[in-house]
Amino acid sequence: MSDSQVPVITVDGPGGSGKGTITQMLARRLGWHLLDSGALYRLTALAAVRQQVSLDDEAGLVSVASRLDVSFLPTGDGEPVRVMLEGEDVTKEIRTEQTGENASRVAVMQPVRDALLQRQRDFRKPPGLVADGRDMGTVVFPDAPAKIFLTATAEERARRRYNQLKQAGVDVNIDALLEEIRARDERDMNREAAPLKPAEDAQVIDSTGLSIEEVLDRCMAAAGQA
Ligand code: DC
Repeated sequence: MSDSQVPVITVDGPGGSGKGTITQMLARRLGWHLLDSGALYRLTALAAVRQQVSLDDEAGLVSVASRLDVSFLPTGDGEPVRVMLEGEDVTKEIRTEQTGENASRVAVMQPVRDALLQRQRDFRKPPGLVADGRDMGTVVFPDAPAKIFLTATAEERARRRYNQLKQAGVDVNIDALLEEIRARDERDMNREAAPLKPAEDAQVIDSTGLSIEEVLDRCMAAAGQA
């Protein structure tokens, strides 16, 4: 099977829609590979900060993105993959609010996106790939046989994030979170480079008010895997 014949399920949508959890569950259930494309933007931002490359220096960022030495290590059942940058475990560090904010700045630059494109396509290996991101169905795998756009209202996403942070012992204000989420949506949807929007042939699933199991069942059905 050539790599272009390997099946891909793309799962795009805004942060907090449940995408990350759902793609991991889909990949595990199907026994397929997983691409967390957001992690690549986060890693680019983190590596740039570490190498003292300014987040405004487009050429410097392209160079960081093309030289990224990363690996994703599978862990035990139910555990998220470990993300390694130059041999160091940065799984926690790439998830901070600051790195998310920096990643979103880096992700608006088309040349940076181009530098990460082939690296993302290289994840397409038998028996199949579940790809999580913003432009998986529109740009990276436009020929994917199954495309899902997972969404939820901004209020629901703010509530989920609030609960996550509270569990982690972080004190936050839910209204401030909601404002941040709206601002991030605005930037992701209105940027020129690969704006966040469903592919024309994507199936839109709204996870507001649904349990994870219900969302998973709908995604499996949408991907023709139920
Ligand atoms: O999904 P995430 O929060 O880990 O993504 C981090 C940032 O990268 C977010 O601002 C959106 C951006 N991103 C992107 O532009 N394209 C992707 N395919 C994945 C993420």
